[in-house]
Amino acid sequence: MNNFDEDIKRLGTNSHKYDNLELLYGLSPRETLPMWTADMDFKAPKCVFDALDDLSANGIFGYYGGQESYNLAVKQWYQLKHNWSLQSDSISVVHGLCAGISIAIRAFSNEKDGVIVFTPVYHSFLSIIKQNNRKLIEQPMYVENNEYHIDFKQLERSMTGKEKIMLFCSPHNPGGKVWSVEELKKVAQFCEKHDLLIISDEIHNDLVFKQKKHIMFPIAVPEITDRLIVLVSSSKTFNIAGGLMGNVIIENLILRKKFQQAHKAIGTMPNLFGMKIAESVYTHGHYWLSDLLAYLEKNIELFDNRISEINGLKSMKLSATYLAWIDFSDTGMSEKDIINKVHRTAGIAASVGSTFGKGGEKFMRFNLACPQAKVIEAVKRLETTFN
Ligand SMILES: Cc1ncc(COP(=O)(O)O)c(C=O)c1O
Repeated sequence: MNNFDEDIKRLGTNSHKYDNLELLYGLSPRETLPMWTADMDFKAPKCVFDALDDLSANGIFGYYGGQESYNLAVKQWYQLKHNWSLQSDSISVVHGLCAGISIAIRAFSNEKDGVIVFTPVYHSFLSIIKQNNRKLIEQPMYVENNEYHIDFKQLERSMTGKEKIMLFCSPHNPGGKVWSVEELKKVAQFCEKHDLLIISDEIHNDLVFKQKKHIMFPIAVPEITDRLIVLVSSSKTFNIAGGLMGNVIIENLILRKKFQQAHKAIGTMPNLFGMKIAESVYTHGHYWLSDLLAYLEKNIELFDNRISEINGLKSMKLSATYLAWIDFSDTGMSEKDIINKVHRTAGIAASVGSTFGKGGEKFMRFNLACPQAKVIEAVKRLETTFN
C-alpha cells in the first residue's frame, strides 16, 4: 500500500501550490498550510515512476506518436469503471482540460455569446469564459439538505436567446456533489429546449466515495450525445496534473470535426511525458486508487466531525473530490474578515470562496488530499481561531 502519511517536501520543487503561495497570497509557505490548489501532497503510483524510468532508459524524448495503446487504456478504464463504451476516434488529447474547455468555447461559440455556469464553480471556468470574450452567465445554486441544487426556473426566466453553451461540472467542484440521473436529465432537457451545447467536465469522476456512484453524462442521457462534449482526465485522480494532458470525448461526428479544427488551429501535439504516465495509470492504477479513496474518506470524516464542533462553521456534504467546502456565514463575519482569519490567524492557505463565483462569498475551500497529520493540524488551527 502507498504510504499516504509520508510528509513529502514540496517547497522548492516548482510546485504551484507551495512555490507560488507567497507571490499569489502574500503568505509564507513555511508557516502556512497550503490547502488551496487541487493537487495532492501524495506520491503518484509506482507505475508512473516505471513509465518515466522506461523513457529515461531509452534516453530519447522526441515527439509523441502511436496513440493507439493510450486510446485502448482510456477505453478499458471507462468500460470497466463506468460501463461506457468509447470509440478511439472520439478521443482528442489536449494539454489539460482547461485548454480543452477553451478550445471548445472557441469552436462552438462566437465572441459575446453566453456561456452558462452553475455557481459556485471551479474558478477557471469563469476566467476562461471571460478571457475568451464570451458572456459569463452565472446561475447561483441553492442549498437544500446540505447540498447544491439547480434553480432551473430562475435560469429559464433569465434566458435571452444569446446563450450557446452550458459548462457543467460533474461531480461538482467545489460542492463535492455527485449529480443524480434525474438531475442530469433535467440539465439535458433544459439544453435541448434552449439549443445549448453541453460541455460536461467530469475530471473528478474517479474521486467519488463509497456511498455514491458517479454516472457519466452520456450514460445517464444517451440521447443527448449530439450536443455533448465530455472532458475526462487521469491527472486529478493520480496526482499527475503536471503532465498537462486530458481527454475531450466527442461522439457526434459533426461536433468532433469542428472541435478538431479549432484544436489544430493552436498547433499543439500530445506531450510525451504526460501521455506515457497517463497510459500507465489507466492500465495499472486501479489498486492505488482504491487505497487513495479509503485514505481520503478518513481525512474527510475527521475534518467534517471536528469542523461541525466549531462555532459558526459548516461543512457541505462531500460525496466526491477531496475539496472541503466550508460555510462561514454563521460566524456573522464579513468576507474580508473570514479570509483574514483563515489565512493569517489560522495560517491556512485555503481557496477564497468568491473566486468560485456568485454564492461563494462566505465559503472557503480546503484541500484535504494531504497526510492526515496536516488535516489534524488544520482543524486545530481552525478551532483555536474560531472557538
Ligand atoms: C472541474 C475542473 N476542471 C478542470 C480542472 C483542471 O484541469 P487541467 O489541469 O487538466 O487543466 C480542475 C482542477 O482543479 C477542475 O476542478
